[in-house]
Amino acid sequence: MKIQIINGPNLNMLGIREPEIYGTLTLNEINRRIEEHAKPLGIELSFFQSNHEGAIIDKIQECFGQANGIIINPGAYTHYSIAIRDALAAVGIPTVEVHLSDINSREDFRKISVIKNVCVKQIWGKGVHSYLEALEYLSK
Ligand code: DQA
Repeated sequence: MKIQIINGPNLNMLGIREPEIYGTLTLNEINRRIEEHAKPLGIELSFFQSNHEGAIIDKIQECFGQANGIIINPGAYTHYSIAIRDALAAVGIPTVEVHLSDINSREDFRKISVIKNVCVKQIWGKGVHSYLEALEYLSK
């Protein structure tokens, strides 16, 4: 099974960025944790991060016919990118939406996810474990 991990804008700043909200792990450290978790599940992973909406859409489109699942943390695009939502709907690959922080207990604008309805599951507020749970969900 092949799973594409996609991280959106500002997630390359993890470790530095608002650690009281997002924790102290860097994106590389998170990716290593995901890798360790994927091994016994027999999952092959690819990692991608971009600060650019179009690049994220290109990557989602590239997944068509290539990946069996997508785990996406679209960062702030979660709350308003209809284009990312449409790309996920277009490829029809089972996708889990993940967030490090609890988007439901922060500013009101974070409570809205425009991609939620095209995802098979939404996991938030568990730090790196949001990604690990997503892996387990897709591997079943
Ligand atoms: C985030 C939550 C978003 O609201 C925010 O814009 C992010 C990160 C999270 O992982 O908690 O960039 O997706």
